[in-house]
Amino acid sequence: MTDTLLKWDDSFLIGIDELDYEHKVLIDDINRLHEELTRHDEKSEIERCLGDIHARMRAHFALEEHVMKEHGYEFFDEHKREHEALLDSYTEDMVQFLNDTGASASTPVEDSLKHWVVDHILNSDKKMSLMVQEKKSFLAKLRNRISGP
Ligand code: FEO
Repeated sequence: MTDTLLKWDDSFLIGIDELDYEHKVLIDDINRLHEELTRHDEKSEIERCLGDIHARMRAHFALEEHVMKEHGYEFFDEHKREHEALLDSYTEDMVQFLNDTGASASTPVEDSLKHWVVDHILNSDKKMSLMVQEKKSFLAKLRNRISGP
């Protein structure tokens, strides 16, 4: 039994169901990576897990950017730049890890993932979700007023 790197709890919820679901799956994947690294699993297993996380991050960022665009989020460019920087940083750490034949230097990969979850979801994603939901609520009230008695 290994320690969990990141424990999911409701403080990670941002209030947009499909994005919350993806964040949770990503955290599960990060914990799976941590377990594999701690158990010193075969490098091929770890490589597969790193690749899965990379693919999930890309897909998640694409979905989230679609949601932001759909709601005319005013800090879209800034948020997208953060996604790009996170993906670049993760890719760099992943490649470095895979090129390291010693293969015990797991920290940079895990650090960048932890940074993403803790800083990005709790700050940037929550800020975005709040503004998206305020806009939805404003538009709903406006619609009610227009179609009211
Ligand atoms: Fe959920 Fe902006 O990443």
